Amino acid sequence: MSAPDPSSKLSASRDIAMLTSALSLEEKAALTVGIDNWRTASFPRLGIPSVKTTDGPNGARGDTLGHESVTPSVCIPSATALGATWDPVLVEQASAIVARQALEKGARVLLGPTVNLHRHPLWGRNFECFSEDPVLTGKLAVAYIDGVRKNNVIATIKHFVGNEVEHERNTASSEIDERALRELYLLPFEYGVRVAGVLAVMTSYNRVNGRFVPDDARLLDGILRKEWGFEGFVMTDWGGIAGTVEAATAGLDLEMPAPGRAFGPALVDAVRSGRLDETRLDEMVRHMLTVFDRVGALDDVPVEEHPQDREEDRAFVRRAAADGIVLLANDGVLPFDARGLRRIAVVGPNAERLAVMGGGSARVVPHYVLSPLAVLRERLGGTVEIVYAPGVASDAIADSASIQAALDAVEGADAVVLIVGTDEVWESEGYDRETMELPRNQNELVRRVLAAHRRCVVVVNSGSPITLTWADYAAAIMQTWFGGQELANAIVDVLFGDSEPGGRLPTTLPMCIEHTPAFGNFPGESSTVRYGESVLIGYRWYETRQLPVRFAFGHGLSYTSFEIGTPSMSTSTLDPGGRLNVEVPVTNVGQRRGAEVVQLYVAPPEQGRSRPGGRFRPVKELRAFAKVWLDPGETTTVSLELNERSFAYYDIADTDWPSLQARMPTTVFRHGPVSPSLHRSQSGWYVDSGTYRLHIGRSCADITQVVEVEVTGGNSPLHDSVRPPTGEQPHR
Ligand code: BGC
Repeated sequence: MSAPDPSSKLSASRDIAMLTSALSLEEKAALTVGIDNWRTASFPRLGIPSVKTTDGPNGARGDTLGHESVTPSVCIPSATALGATWDPVLVEQASAIVARQALEKGARVLLGPTVNLHRHPLWGRNFECFSEDPVLTGKLAVAYIDGVRKNNVIATIKHFVGNEVEHERNTASSEIDERALRELYLLPFEYGVRVAGVLAVMTSYNRVNGRFVPDDARLLDGILRKEWGFEGFVMTDWGGIAGTVEAATAGLDLEMPAPGRAFGPALVDAVRSGRLDETRLDEMVRHMLTVFDRVGALDDVPVEEHPQDREEDRAFVRRAAADGIVLLANDGVLPFDARGLRRIAVVGPNAERLAVMGGGSARVVPHYVLSPLAVLRERLGGTVEIVYAPGVASDAIADSASIQAALDAVEGADAVVLIVGTDEVWESEGYDRETMELPRNQNELVRRVLAAHRRCVVVVNSGSPITLTWADYAAAIMQTWFGGQELANAIVDVLFGDSEPGGRLPTTLPMCIEHTPAFGNFPGESSTVRYGESVLIGYRWYETRQLPVRFAFGHGLSYTSFEIGTPSMSTSTLDPGGRLNVEVPVTNVGQRRGAEVVQLYVAPPEQGRSRPGGRFRPVKELRAFAKVWLDPGETTTVSLELNERSFAYYDIADTDWPSLQARMPTTVFRHGPVSPSLHRSQSGWYVDSGTYRLHIGRSCADITQVVEVEVTGGNSPLHDSVRPPTGEQPHR
């Protein structure tokens, strides 16, 4: 396998049409299905090697025995932690590490990123996805794909689409209305394809609106290839259901893993019996070989897995974990000054058994994992007395684990670090969480310890939201997510101010499960998951419904303070085809270096309500953001780019309207002239003319600047060439 070349440009070198025509019908069909769990077929006589895939996304897992990987991997932070960094540059560096490790494991296809959305806090795989917001997800997915691509590895964006529950995931149908599908669930994939030029897509297990995705020509051939111009290959999820002719016609190229049920020999039969044109099989083969060729995989020779544990990767992963830690609350207790501490009580099961990743296919065996307890002992052991009590019993923690022992430990301590959370069994692929409460009796532990000690920092080590009913009583709260193999070091770095808590919430922390948007429609019933909240995912729901939240989307405290200055706009009127740059000055007005995330939300003229002729819109939606690191006193200007898509909604069209009118019995019942925007004949992205407000701030609930822009819309859909803005050109 050739060495990774970060500066390489993807380009083809083999004559793929000739290679395809040299394959027999049986050989072509054999290429459309795996030969084992991870590899595609090889044809040595034509110099076509087997190509290996690997999970993804928070490490390169490589070969597996049972569910265990056979060699260790660098374990980067899971996606919620990466989402919390709000930092595309960092995400690109993180995925580059995974891609390099994939090459060290002989793999050219990385099965990530996962870009489904945090629709409901109890979905078992939330930790594997970036955010509840499709724009944050989309921009970070672009960065992730770039980091992989620059190392000549094929990123696989997954799971296309509507895979937001584990319960009966192989059969359930996600019932998603077209507008929500376009505005929310398809959007990260659109970024991946149209902006990043991703070369592989994995279909989801679930059905969408009654149809298995691999069989869905509208989604695969229509939206993915024809509308977005996808140039790569489409594969099933592992063992996902596909029909032979249906899937081949719809646009599926590869069925994984072996043995194939829909593809492989079944495709030979389909061609021989005349049910499938062989040219379609040729096309499938061409898609795969072209992509393999573009990363150099057709020149590979098999290698033994030889993953490296590099000092620079350790240092980067440690920084990335700290950059994703969200400081939710702080009465000034943090950062600790070690000089003022004689005795620290460390309490909670996760102090000893830290959760650094979630369960399922994203699980890797890290090169090593440390616990915060061990790190604290090593760093402070000589100078500060550290007493430890897990507080609650678990399978992994011995018997002495009582709340009373924890209360004894905190008595007389100068500060308490209480580390609670879930783990890879509580949050995993394959099933959903049953509750948003902390598992076992950790809530009781937290309540009692908070009542017993004033200087208590609660560290929440979970991959997705936990009900923080005791939040008002903690001196400080840190949300660490599943921050990868260096999380323990990062937690201690943040506790003592060696690192800034760089994270901001990529997902709302709700008050209670009953307030959440999909409550009542999760995990689904009668094989149906009804996306009844439609476009109101996450903060869009809480704001529009005027529901209080525990901590708002985008929230996170710094150890310094920032001033967001008056924005200036490149234009005060956005006309069709135009772009708008909003420049925002940011100054670090505090005493230490730190990070700020400037967030821009667009509020339409009609917010959260509809009137005849208008469209129901969320109160506001994230459209751009920028993270900056500044020294004390330093000012910089961030540039946020918007275009027509930043103001658009998806109109499903109402083609029945004229015939419905014609069927009305008398003119008395017929509607008079109505706004042409109410019953359009063509579906697509539309912009309503009007005055839009740009809300700029440090979370969706902490807006410091509001400016207005006049937008000229109209009754024609946006041209296909209008992509969601990223400030960059597509990376093809
Ligand atoms: C998961 C995929 C994963 C595949 C291979 C499936 O169960 O849904 O995300 O890539 O397994 O491990």
